[in-house]
Amino acid sequence: MSFLLIFFLLQLFSNLHLSKSQLQNPQIISNFSVSDSPWTPDKNQILLSPNSTFAAGFLPLPSNLYTFSVWYYAISKKFNLETVVWSANDNSPVNNSASLIITSSGELSLSNPGGRNLWPAKTPPVRSGRDLVLLESGNLTFGDWGSFAHPTNTILPNQIIKGTTLSTRNGKYQFLDTNKLVYKDAADTYWGPVNAFLNLDDQGTISQEGSTIISSDFGDLKTRRLTLDEDGNLRHYSFDTDLGNWTVVWKAVGNLCRIKATCGAYAICSYEPSKTSTSCKCLPGFREMKSSSDDFVCQRKTPIRNSANTSKFMSLDYVSFTASYSGTQHFDFPVSTLSECQVRCLGNQTCEGFQFKYDGSNTCVMLNGTLEDGLWSPESESTDWYFPCWAFDQVFKETNIDDILDPRIKHSYDSRAHFDMVNRMLMTAMWCIQDRAENRPTMGKVAKMLEGTVEIGLPKKPTLYYAEQDEE
Ligand SMILES: *[C@@H]1O[C@H](CO)[C@@H](O)[C@H](O)[C@H]1NC(C)=O
Ligand SMILES: *[C@@H]1O[C@H](CO)[C@@H](O)[C@H](O)[C@H]1NC(C)=O
Ligand SMILES: *[C@@H]1O[C@H](CO)[C@@H](O)[C@H](O)[C@H]1NC(C)=O
Ligand SMILES: *[C@@H]1O[C@H](CO)[C@@H](O)[C@H](O)[C@H]1NC(C)=O
Ligand SMILES: *[C@@H]1O[C@H](CO)[C@@H](O)[C@H](O)[C@H]1NC(C)=O
Ligand SMILES: *[C@@H]1O[C@H](CO)[C@@H](O)[C@H](O)[C@H]1NC(C)=O
Ligand SMILES: *[C@@H]1O[C@H](CO)[C@@H](O)[C@H](O)[C@H]1NC(C)=O
Ligand SMILES: *[C@@H]1O[C@H](CO)[C@@H](O)[C@H](O)[C@H]1NC(C)=O
Repeated sequence: MSFLLIFFLLQLFSNLHLSKSQLQNPQIISNFSVSDSPWTPDKNQILLSPNSTFAAGFLPLPSNLYTFSVWYYAISKKFNLETVVWSANDNSPVNNSASLIITSSGELSLSNPGGRNLWPAKTPPVRSGRDLVLLESGNLTFGDWGSFAHPTNTILPNQIIKGTTLSTRNGKYQFLDTNKLVYKDAADTYWGPVNAFLNLDDQGTISQEGSTIISSDFGDLKTRRLTLDEDGNLRHYSFDTDLGNWTVVWKAVGNLCRIKATCGAYAICSYEPSKTSTSCKCLPGFREMKSSSDDFVCQRKTPIRNSANTSKFMSLDYVSFTASYSGTQHFDFPVSTLSECQVRCLGNQTCEGFQFKYDGSNTCVMLNGTLEDGLWSPESESTDWYFPCWAFDQVFKETNIDDILDPRIKHSYDSRAHFDMVNRMLMTAMWCIQDRAENRPTMGKVAKMLEGTVEIGLPKKPTLYYAEQDEE
């Protein structure tokens, strides 16, 4: 046992040593030609751009596999910060028996021994004498082939990107055709479509078809990049030499919970703007499940057995589930009451929950399939929920007005003597205590509401109900 342990530590140590020396004292080349072939990871060499802004070479991953990549060289040396901008084989890293060669027919080939060529897009054979060269812009070129035409997750200044697509390394997200952010294969768009992005410049402008996006540090000549990060957000970074770090100067999505699959099934995502971070929580009755990926997934503590007899519904305020990529569908139809919607859901094997819209339309939205992309948003931009929950539920759901009436006027309500007037007062009060100031009526409007000269609309507040097993 102890022997094994020692062996493991030694192995780890030698690997670490290897990876470090790889980046510490590499042999520097300015071009890679037929006569330099093959280039193997063990050669410990890097190809530099003329002014050393960028480097290209085999970059070791923590797993001891390699990608052939381009990264900021000067920044990595000075600030000890490794930022990769392009990779030939992100999705199929190679081991240290791999090699990059220029074949006798003048093609570039990256492969494991006997494996297929992993170089993106077959390079057209070039006249002999042509080399692999890294330009100062970060464009890795081989004859007419340039890495700028095959972006991975990053776009550099002056790279023409129209019609290209960025992808995250984890394969979850894409900036498709540079005009929309999608989850997986275009199944769900969570940002855009916008005017297609054309390029980024050194001073902070992103040019689009017919418009531009300006960064918060616009005008400063800085090192910049536009990256589709692993979390699915597209961010424009500029390098702050004082901080020695990248700063976000523009981003596509503000509330990270709006990015699809930020949390997994049966979880609710909430966003904390002050920390610019998200947190995932399981619905009541569900627990976090260990998953092989780092996704946050929840499962029922008790499986639903017989819906109609042992299940009940839980209501969730300010929560909506919006996913459609997993086969979950939303079925809308009008019903007369909340309980009709409930009965319909109970009667259907595939119904996992329903939403009832209190907007006068009495729309019942049934959700079949997994509840995904749960979003908690009391301050929702899309205005759907206006009322403090407790009072709202009393008045409009349970019609239990008695509980919230001042005892001094309660008798007049009970006796129905001033039923309409009390109703009007309550409805008006509801509009006056809204969370959002802009939704509250003006004093003039309030007077009219009380007089009964204007119609008082019913508030909107969709609430989601989902099936839950009783835990006896
Ligand atoms: C390629 O690099 C070698 C040595 O680094 C240099 O002597 C040679 O001039 C370079 N060739 C070209 C075409 O830049
Ligand atoms: C490299 O740096 C020098 C001096 O700063 C500059 O004159 C030259 O234009 C740069 N070359 C490239 C290709 O950017
Ligand atoms: C590298 O991978 C190839 C197959 O992809 C395998 O045949 C070879 O043994 C591996 N070499 C090492 C040193 O792990
Ligand atoms: C990148 O290099 C390729 C190949 O030399 C070239 O065709 C392309 O125009 C370059 N792109 C930019 C933006 O310089
Ligand atoms: C650099 O910025 C990243 C986030 O952009 C942050 O996680 C990291 O801590 C920063 N590093 C330093 C040294 O400030
Ligand atoms: C469900 O309850 C109804 C009446 O409440 C009863 O007739 C029926 O047998 C019950 N079904 C099951 C599966 O327990
Ligand atoms: C149950 O829901 C499915 C959709 O999941 C729908 O097609 C079907 O008509 C529903 N069945 C009943 C009895 O409501
Ligand atoms: C939801 O309903 C649709 C249409 O009836 C069906 O194709 C789909 O498989 C259902 N999803 C689940 C998870 O039951």
